[in-house]
Amino acid sequence: MRFDILSLFPEFVEQISAHGVVGRAGERGLLSVHGWNPRDYAEGNYRRVDDRPFGGGPGMVMLIEPLRAALAAMRAADPAPVRVIYLSPQGRPLTQAKVRQLAFMPRIALLCGRYEGVDERLLQAEVDEEISIGDYVLSGGELAAAVLIDAVARLQEGALNDAESAVQDSFEGDGLLDCPHYTRPVEHALGSVPEVLLSGNHAAIAYWRRQQSLGRTWLRRPELLNEAELSKGDRALLDD
Ligand code: ADE
Repeated sequence: MRFDILSLFPEFVEQISAHGVVGRAGERGLLSVHGWNPRDYAEGNYRRVDDRPFGGGPGMVMLIEPLRAALAAMRAADPAPVRVIYLSPQGRPLTQAKVRQLAFMPRIALLCGRYEGVDERLLQAEVDEEISIGDYVLSGGELAAAVLIDAVARLQEGALNDAESAVQDSFEGDGLLDCPHYTRPVEHALGSVPEVLLSGNHAAIAYWRRQQSLGRTWLRRPELLNEAELSKGDRALLDD
């Protein structure tokens, strides 16, 4: 999978592919990240990339032309079709279901705004989809792009060492929060590992984990239960 990043700070986003799961996915040839800086395509001595908003008001707006030229250079470098996503607080929320959809795409371009935003005409002409990573305002789309790349990269087949771990994550499969996890030592000043996890009884362990997932979801994110895939047994547990 190929990611193209359009940003005044592309290195900021490219860093994501230097470490951890995303880095390993890159080494395994599962994905690549390419940066495009509109400033490199801006005209004049000052290489201006923004200007004041018509109608007044605070902040600056990113100019059409440097972004358009950067997008054209990106398409010329690789003519394969590309889905252009603009990261902004006005976009649709990024969910695990959306991440799963995006993970199937062969190529995504992530347009990162700075300042007050991007000239609306550029967005209308070039952007296929607008995505937000949450109801808060960042100073630019770069961190949002990094979040999206990380979430999508770890779903690429072969990116995770233990393929199972993606399936069991919070929100994967059934839409519930993940259960708690423990490792050695069994006894510690901070507490003991729950007995059932040491029992070797796989059915009992699965039941305990399900109970924990349901309980946590009920306590912390009850609204998720409306959309979750619940069995009769799950419902009985919740009604108790
Ligand atoms: N840019 C600024 N804030 C953002 C957000 N919440 N999500 C995506 N991009 C953004």
